[in-house]
Amino acid sequence: SVVILDFGSQFTRLIARRFRELGAYSVILPGTASLERIAQENPQGIVLSGGPSSVYDEAAPRPAAGVLDLPVPILGVCYGMQFLAQQAGGTVARAGRREYGKADLTRYGGQLFEGIVGEFVAWMSHSDSVKALPAGYEVVAETLDTPVTAIENNVTRRYGVQFHPEVVHTPKGGQLLANFLGICGIERDWNAEHIVEDLIEGVRAQVGDGRVLLAISGGVDSSTLGLLLARAVGEKLTAVFIDHGLLRLGEREQVEAALLPLGVNLITVDARTEFMGALTGVSDPEQKRKIIGREFIRAFEREARIHGPFDYLAQGTLYPDVIESAGGLHSEKSGAANIKSHHNVGGLPDDLAFKLVEPFRTLFKDEVREIARLLGLPEHIRMRHPFPGPGLAIRVIGAITEEKLDILRRVDDIFISGLREFGLYDGCSQALAILTPIQSVGVMGDERTYSYTAALRAVTTDDFMTAEWARLPYDFLATMSNRIVNHVHEINRVVYDITGKPPATIEWE
Ligand code: XMP
Repeated sequence: SVVILDFGSQFTRLIARRFRELGAYSVILPGTASLERIAQENPQGIVLSGGPSSVYDEAAPRPAAGVLDLPVPILGVCYGMQFLAQQAGGTVARAGRREYGKADLTRYGGQLFEGIVGEFVAWMSHSDSVKALPAGYEVVAETLDTPVTAIENNVTRRYGVQFHPEVVHTPKGGQLLANFLGICGIERDWNAEHIVEDLIEGVRAQVGDGRVLLAISGGVDSSTLGLLLARAVGEKLTAVFIDHGLLRLGEREQVEAALLPLGVNLITVDARTEFMGALTGVSDPEQKRKIIGREFIRAFEREARIHGPFDYLAQGTLYPDVIESAGGLHSEKSGAANIKSHHNVGGLPDDLAFKLVEPFRTLFKDEVREIARLLGLPEHIRMRHPFPGPGLAIRVIGAITEEKLDILRRVDDIFISGLREFGLYDGCSQALAILTPIQSVGVMGDERTYSYTAALRAVTTDDFMTAEWARLPYDFLATMSNRIVNHVHEINRVVYDITGKPPATIEWE
């Protein structure tokens, strides 16, 4: 594997991403991880990431003692390169001016650039530069502004690049990272089939004969995990799907139809009455989330007792969640979590203290989707947009009622089916319908109406932290509007949300 030591660059995750794409397994550890922790990953190569600090700062994060002496190749990126250079006896100082953006390499060569030809555009973002080269190193690339843009010592196999090879703005950066894998002698055989076999073996090794409990939400992660665990432990898995009455049209049936035939021991729990009872008259969004979270845990706990005892609780935690919760380096996400309290399985009572099984901890979302395909999860679930845990409760603005949920379900179904029908679904990252409390005057036939306004929202985004509203074709919106008012007689007005995030959020509550 390649171990990436993270010194706080916003691009660290992309380095891991690129290595995975190149077929190499890589793992991100905090920059200051201990030598023992690093050794556990059997590193064949190490990357020191970029970061916001200066190597000459007292408080700058540093790799643990001994890391630089490991007998494997090391690649330093930006801050990482400056650190390598300084440790080997070179000097690093503030550059004349901060270099930010694209730069052309005026010259390049050496092992890292082997086989690369033509123009090399490099993405820079730094204020410090290597001023004096340490002994044993040579400069292998330069730009007009930065004479020391890449360095290497091919005896100790230490390499450094001042630019970011992992970002798309460095188009040939992937070749450079591939060369580094070659230097490390890392086999590029990491693919979805391997991942599935490894995961199954890993789960078997961890749980042995133990019994495993899993909460199924109907989304791609928990559904895929259900399929994987069924393969790994068969009947020792109990998957619980709680129908809280806040699901979309036909959703419960779809989940059952997808998982039962593939051998998942699935128990569907009808908890609609409890959830509706607890939510009656509640209009504050955060209050709704809290109640749903609490009721969810209650229902789940009850099922755990009925079908238990269980030794393990399985969770579909993904790699980005792990990195985000670990270092707190990626503060955008923790900030966002405070804006809306996202509910997850958590806070179970002590006597239900299971050990956790989290087979997807090293995977990215698209890897899970790939695994889902291999395990036979139907396409409509596999490529589905995310759907929030509190479901339609946060899409009926204000207090929810059965009647309002029923209206929203039909509107949502027309919109989502329409997106699929017109080939627009995959182009959106998330699409939703909202039932507003606004009633307004309309005219249908010769009659005056006084009915609800439905809002449609579709967004494109990479990370759901920021988003753009999707530029859906007018003709499509016109068709949706017609279908909705014709088929859902409680609606007489349809609006399309043209606000980005920020300032709005994706959900309306
Ligand atoms: P917002 O509305 O904050 O949504 O822009 C960002 C993403 O998070 C989802 N979301 C939730 N997911 N529980 C969840 O599991 C929640 O309470 C919740 N609130 C928002 C939202 O659907 C979008 O994908």
